[in-house]
Amino acid sequence: PEDVGILAIETVFPSLYVDQTELEQYDGVSAGKYTVGLGQHKMGICGDREDINSICLTVVQNLMEHYDIKYTDIGRLEVGTETIIDKSKSVKSVLMQLFEPHGVMDIEGIDTTNACYGGTAALFNAIAWVESSDWNHRYALVVTADIAVYAEGPARPTGGAGAVAMLIGPNAPLVFDRHVRATYMRHVYDFYKPDLASEFPKVDGKLSIECYLNALDTCYQLYCKRASKRDSKETPVDLNHFDYLLFHTPFCKLMQKSVGRLGLNDFLSTSPGLIPQLYPGLNNYRKVDLNNSYFDKDVEKTFMTTTKGSFETKTQPTLLLANQIGNMYTASLYGGLVSLLINQNIEQIAGSKIGLFSYGSGLASTMYSITVTKDSNDNSQLYKLISNLKNVKTKLEQRLKISPEKFMTMLAVRQQNYNKAPFKPIGRVEDLFPGTYYLVEIDEMYRRHYRRH
Ligand code: ACO
Repeated sequence: PEDVGILAIETVFPSLYVDQTELEQYDGVSAGKYTVGLGQHKMGICGDREDINSICLTVVQNLMEHYDIKYTDIGRLEVGTETIIDKSKSVKSVLMQLFEPHGVMDIEGIDTTNACYGGTAALFNAIAWVESSDWNHRYALVVTADIAVYAEGPARPTGGAGAVAMLIGPNAPLVFDRHVRATYMRHVYDFYKPDLASEFPKVDGKLSIECYLNALDTCYQLYCKRASKRDSKETPVDLNHFDYLLFHTPFCKLMQKSVGRLGLNDFLSTSPGLIPQLYPGLNNYRKVDLNNSYFDKDVEKTFMTTTKGSFETKTQPTLLLANQIGNMYTASLYGGLVSLLINQNIEQIAGSKIGLFSYGSGLASTMYSITVTKDSNDNSQLYKLISNLKNVKTKLEQRLKISPEKFMTMLAVRQQNYNKAPFKPIGRVEDLFPGTYYLVEIDEMYRRHYRRH
């Protein structure tokens, strides 16, 4: 099959949020620490009515309804998540409740987990299946979803929650480029969830950022090499290769630094003779060692300045959901795609090259790219895909703000009730967006029961 890619995309996020300026005041940190220092404005939060199963049920059902797709048209269902509740039992198996009434049980795929990378691994499984000898001409559906909550401390304002589901098949408007994927995996304890009695991760914040930037450098170099070889380019592939650059986004400020980092990589791979002309005044930086500059403020500032224009045009439009909802873990990168599709005109998106960097602690990372079809007329699939996302901005505005006190109480309640059975949630169903699946109860056998609002 040709032009395998994304045919449909759907997102859901919590109807409640906390304001980061108010959280700064409540936490007693200096004004601007979360909003400027981390670049975050609002953070989505799930009450006791929502869990990973309910979010995934909602996003799948919404996608099927909005695109009018038949359950019999789906041949593979993959879930990428690091929000674990029934441990041995997958979220995918829970989603089968939507397929069984349509007689659809012949459906491959299962959950994939490695921090924020699981969604990308799930996506790659789906692409591989569509391109394989076992493909049966049905679509693959990939669900990326998480609830990100942290213990009290500096990581707490980088939480969030949400899901993005994508329909994968041939002749798509967003086509995955072949022969360019660049992967980097290592064993590191930067972020992990060893305490099964808690929803919170263990996180070494500084180490996780160092690992993130190291993975970014490495994937980018390999991607550029492969793209250059694939396209038989005479000039090296660099930032100019991409119209848009999407990143896994733990907090928005890191993306400015990441684009700067790519600029530094481009600079270091420029032949010395061209430096005075292309980078006047920066000759001294030729000595910079990538592995010893992750927290070098001077290097960071210099290359954030040289890449300011690139950041503003290629990455800023991809940060809306990350800024307004927070880190959605596996769904974060794909929330970047949703943000791009709703922030740019269809004419700008048509024919563009999108670079994507996926990072999951532990660590697993890949850089890959998408080429968007040029066809953007009113009957095109691209038009349909973008039209379906038109209500996302309105829904962000329709959310209910809760106070930091209430936010803290909700997290304390989540913590208290974690792994509890039997359990009856008390959160207001009326506060959820229409069409949201919600938890009715967990019975004495830990079985979860859901209903749709
Ligand atoms: N106004 C403006 N900026 C401010 C202010 C202020 N009043 N106060 C602080 N800042 C800036 C700091 O200068 C710093 O910016 P810089 O890095 O550009 O220098 C930034 O705010 C963060 O402040 P710090 O004190 O350096 O860090 P903090 O202790 O708040 O921790 C961290 C930040 C490490 C990101 C923490 O939130 C964390 O652990 N998050 C989770 C880990 C994570 O997301 N890792 C990324 C990849 S893995 C993943 O996705 C889970």
